[in-house]
Amino acid sequence: MSTASDLSFHLRPGGGLHGRLRVPGDKSISHRAIMLGAIADGVTRISGFLEGADSLATLSAFRAMGVPIEGPNDGRVRIAGVGLRGLRAPHSDLDLGNSGTSMRLLAGLLAGQRFAATLVGDPSLSKRPMQRVTEPLARMGARIETTESGTAPLRITPVAALRPINYALPVASAQVKSCLLLAGLYATGETCVTESALTRDHTERMLATFAHPVRCAGPRVCVASGKRLAACQLDIPGDISSAAFFLVGASIAPGSDLTLEHVGVNPTRIGVLNILRAMGADIRLTDLRDAGGEPAADVRVRAAPLQGIVIPHDQVPLAIDEFPALFIAAACARGETLLTGAEELRVKESDRIRVMAKGLAVLGVEVEPRADGIRIRGGGYGGGQVDSGGDHRIAMAFAIAALQAGAPLEIRDCANVNTSFPGFAALAAGAGLGIEERWV
Ligand code: S3P
Repeated sequence: MSTASDLSFHLRPGGGLHGRLRVPGDKSISHRAIMLGAIADGVTRISGFLEGADSLATLSAFRAMGVPIEGPNDGRVRIAGVGLRGLRAPHSDLDLGNSGTSMRLLAGLLAGQRFAATLVGDPSLSKRPMQRVTEPLARMGARIETTESGTAPLRITPVAALRPINYALPVASAQVKSCLLLAGLYATGETCVTESALTRDHTERMLATFAHPVRCAGPRVCVASGKRLAACQLDIPGDISSAAFFLVGASIAPGSDLTLEHVGVNPTRIGVLNILRAMGADIRLTDLRDAGGEPAADVRVRAAPLQGIVIPHDQVPLAIDEFPALFIAAACARGETLLTGAEELRVKESDRIRVMAKGLAVLGVEVEPRADGIRIRGGGYGGGQVDSGGDHRIAMAFAIAALQAGAPLEIRDCANVNTSFPGFAALAAGAGLGIEERWV
């Protein structure tokens, strides 16, 4: 049995990316599809479900709470919804692995159930801040115990009823927003959340797709309680966060011309497109369509000279998961790129500012990490041995960096790529990346 630290990527420098490919389904949407399908009335059929460890952790948690779920089978999942009050007490702790979205959204969904549950995670998830959800949930009357430092395990005890809340989010977080909206389904009235900055709106969109009333007015979103969800069919588009590695790779590798099929292009997720275009990238969207209430398109990207920029603050939450890839774009660009207002990067699957800065420095890039961002001087780099810190997105970001590297690259601790992008190495190799996986 392999462990999280025993897969390495070995990369040949240079090459280009060509052809057409489809990245796996969107992770955020896959989590929500299981959660809402489980508490809906009737059978929900999903296609395009992400068969990565994170979304599978959510799926297993609902199976453990008595929800009949068939699949996944080539991205297809069938959920026999048990209704709002049909979940059953799990027999053991719910292990959510590396998945912050599973833990934070489930904390909300389970706070108002009539049974106790304990949410646990791997060492990385067990270090991530959970007070951002337990504190507002406590204001709703929830009883959730954390460690002294506010981290998992989360021990949820049933309460008689949850009170609705009117909450202004102190951090720009779709996970906190979604957690409170899901708790709001079980409160005694209308729960409202007001955002400080626009974040991904998949929960709001999907509640509407499940015919559940949701009221959005500017930065404020409200859900009433006691309404039922109606099962539906969902086609989950490709994950723009996974597409991001190819968008950057094809932009930086001379001669590249790559089309990514059926990618989700929800306006609250396209910071990576906006930032890359501002840097000079040649990215075109065609065949815009609807995928279960989410916009999707084919995305064609061709190599183009990139220019360093100051990243606009309003784009930060819209590209929050894409910064590892964007830092590689910055390292290849002419001039300097400056990111500020992104302290959230320090509490992702790793401290992404620290781990990326360290790896870029190994390659010979001039970087200046800051408390809330980074300054990167572009213009090329060499090769070497880089550690991903067990972070899937950092592993994939350095893999595509090889397209512009002056020497071979080895990336350590890559097994967690499977949390969001199973089959990444094979798909990237098929498009032209000189990548080889080695288990050690
Ligand atoms: C997610 C929201 C983001 C993102 C995460 C998935 C979601 O986290 O980084 O990968 O599905 O709601 P925050 O909302 O905490 O920034």
